[in-house]
Amino acid sequence: MKLPVIPYPQQVKALEGSYTFPESGPQIRRETVHELAEEAYKLTISPEGILIQSASESGFLNAGRTLRQIIRHTPNRTLPCCVIQDFPRYSHRGFMLDCVRHFFTVAEIKKLIDAMAMFKMNVFHWHLTDDQGWRIQIDRYPLLTGIGSKRPYSDFGRDYEPGEYGGFYTKDDIREIVAYCTARCIEVIPEIEFPGHATSILAAYPELSCDGHPVQVSTRGGVHTNTICVSSEKTMEFVQNVLTEVAGLFPGKRIHLGGDEAPKDHWMNCPHCQAYMEEHGLKNALELQCDFTNRVAEFLKQFGKTAVVWSDSIKGHNLSPEVTSQYWVGDINLTTEHLNKGGKTIMSTCGVFYLDMSYGQTAVSTTYNRFTLPPDVLPECEAGVLGIETPLWTEFIQNFERLAFQAFPRAAAAAERAWSSAEISNVDDFKARFKLLYTDLMEIGVTPAPEKLWDMSKPKRIWDALKYWHHAMTRDDIQKFIAQMKRERKEVEYEKQS
Ligand code: ACM
Ligand code: ZN
Repeated sequence: MKLPVIPYPQQVKALEGSYTFPESGPQIRRETVHELAEEAYKLTISPEGILIQSASESGFLNAGRTLRQIIRHTPNRTLPCCVIQDFPRYSHRGFMLDCVRHFFTVAEIKKLIDAMAMFKMNVFHWHLTDDQGWRIQIDRYPLLTGIGSKRPYSDFGRDYEPGEYGGFYTKDDIREIVAYCTARCIEVIPEIEFPGHATSILAAYPELSCDGHPVQVSTRGGVHTNTICVSSEKTMEFVQNVLTEVAGLFPGKRIHLGGDEAPKDHWMNCPHCQAYMEEHGLKNALELQCDFTNRVAEFLKQFGKTAVVWSDSIKGHNLSPEVTSQYWVGDINLTTEHLNKGGKTIMSTCGVFYLDMSYGQTAVSTTYNRFTLPPDVLPECEAGVLGIETPLWTEFIQNFERLAFQAFPRAAAAAERAWSSAEISNVDDFKARFKLLYTDLMEIGVTPAPEKLWDMSKPKRIWDALKYWHHAMTRDDIQKFIAQMKRERKEVEYEKQS
């Protein structure tokens, strides 16, 4: 028996008979069973009715999600009798939404959260700051939104959108999203990017960079060289004050500090940064970035929070194992090193879980079946892999319809990979179940990509990928990309020299 459920439960035992419930709805009993794990549940359908057992609210909600899918997609109000014992493979099943490159309203984010909840995704990672905008109200620094939330136009790849573009979430907006997530047992991880992707900060407060030069909020994508000075007291005070307000808004235990794609050029020419490195025995700029992250992570402890960073931040080898790394690209052995020191990681491998890629680049079967773990992790450190997260960067996502198209069914595929046992690996079976659940998503206003795009033939995939890159990259972008590659090579040289 295969149930119309995503993510597929860990254990399904068929029983004799069926339960036909009245038009008024099924008979559901709920029981607390303390022995069950957080998020786990036992769901029994017997001829007399339905019994849900769980230890926690999250387990109860998860049982309800499974039951709802079964009820909606089983004909004649007649459910097959069975016992479902279910629990997640990984505790972290996340979705990251970039609300900087394009802004999404509170109502739209709630629709996304409903869709996440349907597939038992339990972490909403909210990317709130970047080069192209600052999107969270911070009372102490009003220019972050006053100046930093707006750009004069948008110019991503071959997309040009004239006219000022902006927006930010007030503290009330944020409380509303947090409450919406909390009611669904979803943790919100806000991401506040330091030290790179900081152009919107420096447009508002240029004195926080190494050279203090004025900059404008960026209108384009790619990597920017505008980093904050990681060694001045003024900058650290700013970071701490911002994070104090952020910590007060988000009840979750984690704050994401970004840390990806932070060019080191300014620090190498900054007297503060050079003196700091000398004083603290830091051999290179990669170590300097880790040291900065460690100091900020230490500061967050007073709020009972831990830091998460993109995996670029582990390149210095001195990142505290208390900081969680989110792997997206680059040398996976660094993630192994971090895990083997007792660190934790979230897996967001770019070619597998990035939802902004076209379906030609990342097919549904790729997201479903290409999850790999870091190699050579010590058995006692394997539990450091917390789970899977699907990032959706929005340079080319101008509205919610496109967001839904990019996200589904791939986010559901990732959700199944992160929840279900590794043996559940038949992508055709996943697709058949997803097609049944299509209407559930449509009803909450989330329209997935059409089936013909999910797994295209090879020539179509190549054509689709070429179209994507043609759209995303102008000549100028390609030159910038090459410059970034050179910079990364220089980082390796910094390391060798030290
Ligand atoms: C990233 O995609 N820059 C984390
Ligand atoms: Zn500096």
